This record gives sequence, C-alpha cells and structure tokens, in this order.
Amino acid sequence: MTKLANDFLWGGSIAAHQLEGAWQEGGKGPAIMDFATAGSATTAREYTKTIEAGRKYPSHEGIDFYHRYKEDIQLFAEMGFKSLRISIDWSRIYPNGDDPEPNQAGIEFYQNVVDELLKYNIEPIVTLYHFELPMNLVTQYDSWKNRKVIDFYLNYVETMVKALKGKVNYWVTFNEMNHIDPQTEASDMFTYILAGLKYSELEGNKKEVLAVMGYNMTLAGVKAAKLIRQIDPASKVGCVFGITPTYPLNCDPVNVLNAFKEMDRDFYQIDVMCNGEFPKYKLKEYADMGINIGMTEEDKQAFAAGKLDYLGMNYYMTDVARYEGGEEEEESLFGGIQNPYLEKSKWGWGIDPIGLRYLLNYTYRRYGLPIIICENGLGAVDEIGPDGVVHDDYRIDFLQKHLSELKKAVEEDKVDCFGYLMWGPIDLVSATTGEMKKRYGFIYVDKHDDGTGDLSRSRKDSFYWYKHLIETNGEEL
Ligand code: BG6
Repeated sequence: MTKLANDFLWGGSIAAHQLEGAWQEGGKGPAIMDFATAGSATTAREYTKTIEAGRKYPSHEGIDFYHRYKEDIQLFAEMGFKSLRISIDWSRIYPNGDDPEPNQAGIEFYQNVVDELLKYNIEPIVTLYHFELPMNLVTQYDSWKNRKVIDFYLNYVETMVKALKGKVNYWVTFNEMNHIDPQTEASDMFTYILAGLKYSELEGNKKEVLAVMGYNMTLAGVKAAKLIRQIDPASKVGCVFGITPTYPLNCDPVNVLNAFKEMDRDFYQIDVMCNGEFPKYKLKEYADMGINIGMTEEDKQAFAAGKLDYLGMNYYMTDVARYEGGEEEEESLFGGIQNPYLEKSKWGWGIDPIGLRYLLNYTYRRYGLPIIICENGLGAVDEIGPDGVVHDDYRIDFLQKHLSELKKAVEEDKVDCFGYLMWGPIDLVSATTGEMKKRYGFIYVDKHDDGTGDLSRSRKDSFYWYKHLIETNGEEL
C-alpha cells in the first residue's frame, strides 16, 4: 500500500515582500511591491509611481519578520515543520538590480534565516522571485520586456546560490509566472505583481508585450535551472505555478472545450520546462496573433538544457469557464463564474478540496515529475475569543478536507507528491488586496489594517491541529 512518505515535507510557505518589512533597512532598494497600496475585498490596490504621503504601503512594515525571524522560526519548529519555503527579495541583494556588486548585508540576512531553519532541521525551499523585482529594472530597463533583465536575474541567482551552496537543496526559480499570458484576461494586478507594469498603461501591442514578458521569464527560468545545477549539482530545481483548474459549466461539448482551453493556457511554460522545448502550438498561436517572439537557436538550447527536477503547485480554488451568453454571472478572481456546488471564502474564492486531488492527478499524469504543493490555505477573518485565542475551526476544516484529498491522490492515485506547504503559516499581508484582515496563519499577528496592533504573535487552535498532524504524519486524515 502506498503511503505518505516518512520524510514528507510538511510545512509552510511565505514571501519576503508580504512579511519582512524593513523596506529601507540593510541596504535594501525599492522593489515593485513597495509601491502597492493597501486595498480590500472591494477596493483594488493601487500601484503608485512614487511613495505618496498619507497612503498606506503594507510591504514597508509587513509583519516585521526581518527583525523577528528567530521568534517566528522557533514557532514553526514548535509545530514540527519539516520545511519552510521562503523567498529572497532581489532588491536586498542588488538594490537596483543592475549594481556591479551585491549588498553584503542582504546576503547575510538570508544566510542567517537559512541557518536558523537548519538549526531546527527545517528544510529551506528558496524561491528566487516572488513578485520582488527591483524598481530600477522597471524604470530604467522596461522590466521583463528587455532581455537584459534576464542577465541581471541570472547574476543575482548566481550570487545567492553561491552564498547558500550546500545549505539549500530545493530552489524555486519563479513563483507563478503563468499569470502573464496574452490569452488570459489581463489585469493591472497580475502584470504589476509579476513585472511592475500596469496592463492598462502598456504601450504598443499589449498582447505582444505580455507574450514577450512571459517568454523572457520562461527563458530566465530555464537558464537559472542550468546555472543552479552547475553551481550546486546536489540541489534540485523547481518552478512554482499557480494553477486554478477550470471546470465546464455542463457537458455541452462547447463548454467542455472552452474549459479545456482556459485551463490549458496556464500550462505552456510548464510544458517548456518539463519537455525542454517551447511548444510549437504556442508559437503558431503567436504567429496568428501577429506576435514575433524572437526565439533564437541559443534559446532553443537553453530550453533543452534547463528542465526541472520537480514541480511546485499553488492551489487555492477552481473556476468555471464562461460560456456564450452568460456574461451576467458573478465573476471569480480569474474571470470565470462561481461554481454553484461550492462554498466560497469571504473573498469569493471557491472552496474545493477535490480540485486539489484533480490538479495533482492532472499534472502528475501529464509530466511524471515529483510535485510539491507550495501554497494552499484559507484567507479568513479571525476573531480573538474571550479567552484571548483564535478558535479557527473553519481553517482546520478547510485544511483537513484538502489534505485528505491530497492523501488520496498519493495513496490511491499514486501521485508522487513529496510535500505540502501551507500558505501563510503566520498571518501576513495579502498579495491581491494588501490587507492584514485576510488571515491565513496558524500564528496570529496582532496587526490591523488601521495601523493598530503591537505585532505580537500568538497560537491559534489550528497551530495545535497542524502540530499533531505533522507528529502523526497525517495518519488520521
Ligand atoms: C498566491 C501568491 O498566488 O496567492 C501569494 O503566490 C499570495 O503571494 C497567495 O499571498 C494568496 O493570495 P492573497 O491575496 O490571499 O494573499
């Protein structure tokens, strides 16, 4: 009988710009998310050109992980974490992205964080790009439109892999680059968080700009994979994709095909990284759209040489594809419609545990690579009870249901899934809305959107639940 491995990587996942704060300390330069204001479920974040007086920029303080990482890691260790996925903020290492020398204080910060994890036998999984692009690369070089940014990225990757060589076994080249694609419904938010550019302000053929940026990031990812293995042959390289499986509205073949096409758009970069070549169908689609991607012979070699060792998947929800004449339905985050069979979170994200099993099966059958779930969790409003504790049974219920589907995917469907990293094991700033109110953590952080709170940490009920789950390696799921 197939079982979850004894060394299954139970843990959590965090991102620098959502929790470190200290945005002007330790030689850090300004990065794109430092210009993202606080929004809410109903008010979109704004991305300002300068830091405007009187506006709130949540990344500036985050939850102050920069100063409190030891305390936070100790709490993760208390839960028994086997792994923590962190991201490195590029702007701490090369404050302007194009600096001739790296910033030593930034390197040391991440060396210290990794050492602290290793002290507790927590396996660090390190993401090299989680929406943290130095702003100078946007203003001076036009961001990922420009191939020079690939070279700056590789230079930064080389610096960090050398600095952490022998300590980090799992690298992640990019987080969720799939949200830039000329065929998905483009929004300011996704082009901004990935590239520091608002879709509405892109000049020229916008579709072409998106295609080129997606292509250049893919190229950067495969070149980084090769480079990382050259520097540290013992390490494994993955890339993390945020996938929202898309269901058809019904069995009308038109809707089934429509759903397939919507879901498929998120996979071409995975195809490149797993198959070693840029898919021909994609190049033909671009040609039909009048887009010249400018692929060179050298690029082709890079695709062939930069295949992944494992795949990371972020899973939050599923979507239902739109259909002809159905424009009136309530929209989901990715432009589809709400699924009447599912409950949804306060932020409108459909809660679908079986979707996780579906995604694991779909991806494993397609590529055959080991998979790690790099993000999954529930953003909810947490209230502190009269006893001073958050009783988050809704979060426990969400995780319990998702994890039992993951377990079935491994034990019954034989998917090679080697870890589960819950998103936001400590409350942190929401990426899409910039709120603190949207909390994911096992650990409560006393910080509120109105600026109050002393940043103290406390354990929610789910903290003890996850600790027990890890201790028993999911036996009771
Ligand atoms: C993922 C991102 O797509 O979604 C994370 O990688 C993000 O950075 C997470 O935090 C959840 O989104 P949100 O908006 O609820 O923080």
